[in-house]
Amino acid sequence: MSPKEHARRRRQLMRMMGRDSIALLPTAPERPRNRDVHYPYRPDSDFYYLTGFPEPEAVLVLVPGRREGEALLFCRDRDPEREIWTGRRAGPEGAVEHYGMDDAFPIGDIDDILPGLLENRERVYYTMGVYPEFDQRVIGWLNRIRAASRSGVHAPAEFVALEHLLHDMRLYKSAAELRLMRRAARIAARAHVRAMRACRPGLMEYALQAEFDHEFRRQGCEHAYPPIVGGGENACILHYTDNAARLEDGSLVLIDAGAELDGYASDITRTFPVNGRFTPPQRALYELVLEAQLAAIDRVRPGAHWNEPHEAAVRVLTRGLVRLGLLEGRVPTLIRHEAYRDFYMHRTGHWLGLDVHDVGDYKVGGAWRVLEPGMVLTVEPGLYVAPDARGVARKWRGIGIRIEDDVVVTKDGCEVLSRDAPKEPDEIEALMAS
Ligand code: GLY
Ligand code: MN
Ligand code: MN
Repeated sequence: MSPKEHARRRRQLMRMMGRDSIALLPTAPERPRNRDVHYPYRPDSDFYYLTGFPEPEAVLVLVPGRREGEALLFCRDRDPEREIWTGRRAGPEGAVEHYGMDDAFPIGDIDDILPGLLENRERVYYTMGVYPEFDQRVIGWLNRIRAASRSGVHAPAEFVALEHLLHDMRLYKSAAELRLMRRAARIAARAHVRAMRACRPGLMEYALQAEFDHEFRRQGCEHAYPPIVGGGENACILHYTDNAARLEDGSLVLIDAGAELDGYASDITRTFPVNGRFTPPQRALYELVLEAQLAAIDRVRPGAHWNEPHEAAVRVLTRGLVRLGLLEGRVPTLIRHEAYRDFYMHRTGHWLGLDVHDVGDYKVGGAWRVLEPGMVLTVEPGLYVAPDARGVARKWRGIGIRIEDDVVVTKDGCEVLSRDAPKEPDEIEALMAS
């Protein structure tokens, strides 16, 4: 992503904020894992969206209309001795030179500089409650200004949540963002193909996960979220991440794994037979989920509302569950009573972007949001028949299936970013046999 695009985003946000305001965006802190080991560092998505700056201990301050510069970054100072231990730092000079900031300061100076920037601004755009320690510092800076009110300065009167403006921007992906997301999806799709090729009875779930670890790392990607590799009835645990069981002959395996590329997520699920051949009951349920998924994808187009793909999936699944004998009754009544929820207990998708469950409102003014070009969402219906499901023929029990693709709304329909991961049962069987 070029620094020009980050600068364009900052300008757009500042136009919406107005001249008498200021925005504060701290990045995420480093998180300890155990003793002096940290989790791999991941910047805050809002901060990263506006800066592309990858280091911890940084704060972006936007001051629209400030003559000496509007986009300011506080970041770690250069420190040759520390850099020998913990790696290179951009430093304030690098923040200006490589990240397009108007000005930058050492993070250690923030207490001295920030109150002066807040003075006489009317409105502070800041997201409270995400980083409690930073909340306290903001309150401290405000109190310092209030204490100096007799010298004629006044503290901002209004606090406004930043996310209303920023998260709406993030919902509409630019051409450059779509290029990254297309690549992230392509890399994940390739890893799903690798896993189908590598799979065989007796393999451990984590060994199949290793196909993703390898493919993602060699492409410079991280996992966008902890991958789910669930063999047999483990597929019925929606957020299963143990990935430590043996893959049994005759069962299915569900893999939900996506790559993160320069911060952007893909999120793909495929379900396939461990031994390469679907049994008839597995295939019957699989074809039903696939039919529901294709019907849902068909509803992803400009002008459709957010819930239309879900409604389409629910209609197909309910009809199919009646046909196969897992539900009894009239389809419209079953849908009204959400009878399908015994087997399909989650929704059909979510926004996708810098966060795997990306930001953006699903309803506007109480009504489902209307889809527009540039929005990216997942389409991921599934069926999960609990191993102890009552009133269900034994042959269905313990089968869990989800098919998940990443889809961008285009001018006249949609584009499936993750189309390189096969999902037709014949295609999967042919691939696994080759
Ligand atoms: N991988 C998380 C999800 O599918 O929503
Ligand atoms: Mn998803
Ligand atoms: Mn997923």
